[in-house]
Amino acid sequence: MRVLGINSVFHDPAAALVIDGQVVAAAEEERFSRRKHGKRPVPFSAWEQPAAAAGWCLRYAGITAAEVDLIGFSYDPGLVLPAGQMGLTDPWDHLRTTYAARAAAFLAEAVPGLDPQRARFVPHHVAHAASAGLAVGRRECSVLVCDGRGERDSCLTGCYRDGKLQVLSTQPLPHSLGLLYEDLTAHLGFLRSSDEYKVMALASYGKPRFLGHLRERVVVAEGGFRIAPVDWAALAPPLKPGQDWDAAHADLAASVQRRLEEVLLALAGQLHEQTGDELLAMAGGTALNCVANTVLARRGPFGSVWVQPAAGDAGTALGAALHLAADQGEPAWAMTGADLGRGFADGEIEAALRTARVPFERPADLAATVADALAADGIVAWFQGRSEYGPRALGQRSLLAHPGRRANLGRLNDVKGREQFRPVAPMVLEERAAEIFVRGPIPSPYMLFVHDVAPHWQDRIPAVVHVDGTARVQTIDRARQPLQAALLTAFEQRTGLPVLVNTSLNTAGRPMVDDIRDTLECFGSTPVDLLAIGPFVVRRR
Ligand SMILES: [Fe+2]
Repeated sequence: MRVLGINSVFHDPAAALVIDGQVVAAAEEERFSRRKHGKRPVPFSAWEQPAAAAGWCLRYAGITAAEVDLIGFSYDPGLVLPAGQMGLTDPWDHLRTTYAARAAAFLAEAVPGLDPQRARFVPHHVAHAASAGLAVGRRECSVLVCDGRGERDSCLTGCYRDGKLQVLSTQPLPHSLGLLYEDLTAHLGFLRSSDEYKVMALASYGKPRFLGHLRERVVVAEGGFRIAPVDWAALAPPLKPGQDWDAAHADLAASVQRRLEEVLLALAGQLHEQTGDELLAMAGGTALNCVANTVLARRGPFGSVWVQPAAGDAGTALGAALHLAADQGEPAWAMTGADLGRGFADGEIEAALRTARVPFERPADLAATVADALAADGIVAWFQGRSEYGPRALGQRSLLAHPGRRANLGRLNDVKGREQFRPVAPMVLEERAAEIFVRGPIPSPYMLFVHDVAPHWQDRIPAVVHVDGTARVQTIDRARQPLQAALLTAFEQRTGLPVLVNTSLNTAGRPMVDDIRDTLECFGSTPVDLLAIGPFVVRRR
C-alpha cells in the first residue's frame, strides 16, 4: 500500500511517502521553494500545498500520482471550533478551516493524477504522536506532544500499544505552551513561529528571576495546564527586530524556559503514572527545545526519551502517513536516520560542476583531504548523501570547522549572518562521546539534547562550548554514517580532537541547501574554503 503524508496547514509544509509500511522518502517544501519554513503560518496561506516535495517523493519511488492509495493530511478541519469558542482572537481563523477542508483538491490541482477521494484527515496531534510513537521502533511507548496549536488543542499525552494510539489527555486551547513561547519570541524582537530556538539560546545568558511570577501565570492541572495572560512589557521592554537585548530580556527568556521545563516534567510525571512505560517518545514544536528535552531525560520518570528529528510540523507529514499505514495493518517501521530527502549520483554532481565550469578534483581519500583543510582551520561545506528531514544538519548538508579555535564560532556566525550569541554544535563519534560530553543521553544522533562539556575538554574545543558550559551534541554511528565517521577519525589523527563543529549549510534566513545548485550558490557567496560535494572537492581560489 502506498500512503502519501502531507503537512500543509500552518507552516513547514512537507510530504512523506510510506510504501508497505516503510518510509521511502520525506522532504520539506522549503528545500525546494527556498523559502524558509515554506510559508508563514497565517490563515491566508493554508491553501498552499507542498507540491514540489510531494512530486519528488513520487518520482523518487518511481510511482505515479494515480498509484497513491491513501493521502493523509495532518489536520482535521472537522475538529476545529470557531476561534472565539477556543479563546482565540484571529478574525480570519475560519479561512484556515475552509482551505484545510479542500486541501485534497488543491493538492490534486498541483500534482495531477492524485485522487482526492483517497484523502483522509488525521488529527494534527495524532499525526505528531505517530511521527514519534510509530517511528521509534518499539511496540510499547508513551508519547508526549506539545506545540503551538492543532485544531483545538495544544498538547496530547498517550501511549502506543502494538501500533495503536491510546489518547490519555489533551489540552484545549487557548492554553498553549507553544503559543506562550511564541509570544515571548515576538516580544524579544524575533520572528514568531520561527526563531524560538534563539530564545532558548538567549535563556542561557539569564537568571530565572521572574520564575515566581511565571509559576503564578502558568499552572499545572490534571492532564494539562492553565495559562493566564502574561504582561511581557512589565517584565522587560519589547524589542524591535535586531535591537540589542539586555539582562532583563535574558532573565525573562531564562524564566519562561525554566517554567516550560517544569510543566513538561509535571506532564511527563502524570503520563508515567498512567502508563509505567520505560520509553517516552516526543514530537511537536516544543520537542525541538533540546534544553527542555534534556531536563526530561535527566530528571523525568522515563528510562529513556526519544525525540523524532522532524519534531515540528514538517514531521506530521511522516506521522499522518505512518498513522494511516498502521491503521491498515501495514508492517512497522523504525527510524534509523533523518536522511530521507534528495540525494544525487556522482555522475550528476560531476556534470553539474562541469556545467558551472567550477574547477574540481576527485581526491583518492576524501576524508583525509577534508580533514587536512579543517586541521588548517579552513571552513568546509559538506554535501553528502540524502538531505535531512527536519531542521538540523546531521552530517549530510553541513558547514564544518575546527572546534579548537574559539574564533570559529564568530566566523561561522558571520558566514551564516547569525546573531553572535548563538552557539554552534559539535559532531563526535558515538564511542568517543561519553568522555567529552556528560550528563546527557548517548547516543544522541539528532542533536535534540544538550550535554555538559567535561571540564578538561572545555578549553580544547572552545568553539562548541555554549556560555553555560553545554553543547548540543550529534553523535555519529560508524555503521550508519561511515563517511562522517572516517572524517572524524582523520581529523583526530591530525589534531587529537575527535570532534568537529557542525552547523547547517545555509546563509541567513535561507533554508538548508538541498540540491547541487543551492550548494554551489551558497559556496560561491560565502567565505567557505572548501566544498566537499559527493566524492569531489572544490577549493576557494
Ligand atoms: Fe504542530
